[in-house]
Amino acid sequence: MSQLPPPDAAFVQVRDLKRVFDVSKPWLNRVLEHAPKQYLKAVDGVSFDIRKGETFALVGESGSGKSTVARMVVGLLPPSGGTVSIAGISMNDVAVAQERQRMRRRIQMIFQDPYASLNPRWRVGRIIAEPIRAFDIIEGEGDITARIGELLTLVGLHPDDAKKFPHEFSGGQRQRIAIARALASNAEFIVCDEPTSALDVSVQAQILNLMRDLQQKFGLTYLFISHNLAVVRHMATRIGVMYLGRLVEVSEGKQLFSAPRHPYTRMLLDAVPDLAMVGKAREGVKGEIPNPINPPSGCTFHPRCPLAFDRCKVENPAVIDGVACHAVNGDRAAAA
Ligand SMILES: Nc1ncnc2c1ncn2[C@@H]1O[C@H](COP(=O)(O)OP(=O)(O)OP(=O)(O)O)[C@@H](O)[C@H]1O
Ligand code: SF4
Ligand SMILES: [Mg+2]
Repeated sequence: MSQLPPPDAAFVQVRDLKRVFDVSKPWLNRVLEHAPKQYLKAVDGVSFDIRKGETFALVGESGSGKSTVARMVVGLLPPSGGTVSIAGISMNDVAVAQERQRMRRRIQMIFQDPYASLNPRWRVGRIIAEPIRAFDIIEGEGDITARIGELLTLVGLHPDDAKKFPHEFSGGQRQRIAIARALASNAEFIVCDEPTSALDVSVQAQILNLMRDLQQKFGLTYLFISHNLAVVRHMATRIGVMYLGRLVEVSEGKQLFSAPRHPYTRMLLDAVPDLAMVGKAREGVKGEIPNPINPPSGCTFHPRCPLAFDRCKVENPAVIDGVACHAVNGDRAAAA
């Protein structure tokens, strides 16, 4: 039996989460070329909490590990290390398999490409009914049909849309269908991986507003992933910034934009035209992301960091008060 979490505990607790991928060449090539096995640390010791009813966003450049974190949080990918617990139930402890199964119903994921995540051969009604049937949420075809109509109306579509196929809808409408399906299982926690990145800007705003309305209506908790800081600012209560598999800063949404602390966060914000202050010389994001198979030593951001000093090359900074940086945490003086 799992113990009940303390009443003030975070709804989602992620601790020291790690994921290593074996990216070695095939065995025969390795033997012929005398090449060693190669491993890629996609996620390297990530910890964060998500409170009930909030939107926690993960941002970072492409390849920083955002989707890998998301897939581990919902249980689509086993971690190489660390833990995820949701409402006090460990998502990787075999001893609580039954409780975890019940928990699965309460967690849903929305992906970037709604067309790929909706079965093109199924009518929308069947797509939305799938979780209702799989989890035995409602019995009786009449009641299921009524619920499908209700869900379609909730996301701004018409009950008659249940009879159509996904290809008959626009990208934004398909994302509405994906949201209706996520709500069909009475989900409480929704992990959204770049949910609006494939949509036109005007449609993006409509979908984001719909997600916020639904959050207020049902008290939903979101893990919201995006590389777009303007979108994140619109949505997030708190924001975690990822760089090469590590979380380098976690701040309240407003604070991150008004007073970014980590040099990488400052670089990211500086690169967004509509966020930085008018009249200020813009620096932009400098340099390339290093190869994650062979990352830089110490703080992996040091080759791009304007504040880097000797210690940064040898020691990975610990996260202190939400920031992983020797300079910000005042260690520069101590190291000198
Ligand atoms: N199945 C896999 N096998 C090998 N490497 C992988 C696999 N999945 C992800 N990676 C690698 O792990 C790293 C993190 O990938 P991930 O998709 O989590 O990044 P991301 O932050 O979501 O990027 P994007 O913004 O492009 O979606 C990348 O270097 C990626 O190439
Ligand atoms: S630890 Fe050093 S290299 Fe890393 S962000 Fe801070 S100052 Fe820059
Ligand atoms: Mg991704």
